[in-house]
Amino acid sequence: MLNRRGVLAAGGIAAGVLGVPKLLAPAEGHEDSTHGEHVFVESKTFTGTRPAIVPWTRPMPVPPVLKPLVSTPKQEIYQLTIENTTAEILPGLQSPVLGFGGQFVGPTIRGKTGRKTLIMLQNKLDEPANVHLHGGHVPPEHDGHPKDLVEPGRTRLYLYPNTQQGTTLWYHDHSHGTEASHVYLGLHGAYVVEDDSERGLNLPSGAYDVPIMLRDIQFDDSGNIVVFDDPSKRTVVLANGVPQPYFEVAARKYRFRLINTANQRVFKLKLTGDKFTRIGSDGGLLGASVVTEELILSSAERTDVVIDFSKYPIGSRVVLTDFMAGEILRFDVVRRATDNSRVPAVLRPLPAQPLSTVDREVDLAFVFKPNERPDGVINGKVFDMDRVDFTIKRGATETWLIRSSDPTGVKHNFHLHLVQFRVLERNGGPPLPSDEGLKDTIPITAGETVKVRATFTGYTGRYVYHCHFLEHSWIGMMAQLEIVP
Ligand code: C2O
Ligand code: CU
Ligand code: CU
Repeated sequence: MLNRRGVLAAGGIAAGVLGVPKLLAPAEGHEDSTHGEHVFVESKTFTGTRPAIVPWTRPMPVPPVLKPLVSTPKQEIYQLTIENTTAEILPGLQSPVLGFGGQFVGPTIRGKTGRKTLIMLQNKLDEPANVHLHGGHVPPEHDGHPKDLVEPGRTRLYLYPNTQQGTTLWYHDHSHGTEASHVYLGLHGAYVVEDDSERGLNLPSGAYDVPIMLRDIQFDDSGNIVVFDDPSKRTVVLANGVPQPYFEVAARKYRFRLINTANQRVFKLKLTGDKFTRIGSDGGLLGASVVTEELILSSAERTDVVIDFSKYPIGSRVVLTDFMAGEILRFDVVRRATDNSRVPAVLRPLPAQPLSTVDREVDLAFVFKPNERPDGVINGKVFDMDRVDFTIKRGATETWLIRSSDPTGVKHNFHLHLVQFRVLERNGGPPLPSDEGLKDTIPITAGETVKVRATFTGYTGRYVYHCHFLEHSWIGMMAQLEIVP
């Protein structure tokens, strides 16, 4: 598998405009491509020799829910592997990938508020790997810190207490120096925290509650996955591991848990002729549901939406589009079904935040060096696993001003482990609609400042915060905090 040295030796980082290596500039189009032709869409532009993608010929898989080995009201124990495997992403072709449970994408794990999840993770690769529960409120030794690796052939136990409210999380590799290639090659899956206290809301559930992981990927002419190149060449967009699939739905309400598992990409999603009802973000339900035409979802962000297909005649088709990739998923309304679910206007009040006692500043940037790849830095420093950047008192509420002074204008994507924060301000003004609710990841354009507030409850120990464009954290745009008693 690729490590940092291997990739650099292979010349994987090509120089681009303004000296920003292209690998480090997230895939982004121009606003006006929303209205014009979707020139980036793979199925309209591909001219190579490998199998071409024919849209709407394959169903979108719903990743199977992982079955526990042991289940009691207090805990569930699971077995999970990390494996080299293959997946049919392009029609008729098996591409080598990495998979949790040998699957691309990984199985969905359903935890439950108040019940522990224990995962026995076995690493069947020939190199170290690990797992991190993104957005999870987890003790430090179970957080998948970049230095905590599962060596080849070994098994490690991860404990997720599930003390947080119901929400949509995801799990992915976080191994130091290999996170970007591991996640890109497939080490990602959905983790849902179910919460009995939300039952009364009667949101769509069971078969009508479906996680959808969206990501991009690049293939070469023989159908091999290209790991490190220019992200704007990641023109194939996958929904649960399949390009341009259809998904058969009943004419009723569905809850979709949208998760951006792309290494570095911002999706701007719309529905042809319809709107989303947004009900949740990274850390759980919003205070109130919001009807919206467009969803902005940066890498690692989640948003839960309800789409109501009951108004459509059987045979209708509703297409999910992205401003840059074009059509990415088609919902085919194929049958009637009863529906007792609701989408209440008022969902769940957001937890009150205590007054903040500490202010900090966090600045994301690249630092250039002659004839070398740039460093990714936070507050001027490259990640060092043995350095503590901020010491935080357990229970403290802090206000962080996150900005990017990046000279290149490239976008970044801030993520904080352990806790959910609230966005208070963007550039001195109100937050964006996508900043609403409980958040652990937010996009930041160079020159922007975002003020967030978090309370560091629960555990003491070391956790990381970083840019969640994984090729940026990979070159050092990561830092460490330590929570002390
Ligand atoms: Cu998605 Cu440091 O994590
Ligand atoms: Cu995380
Ligand atoms: Cu970044």
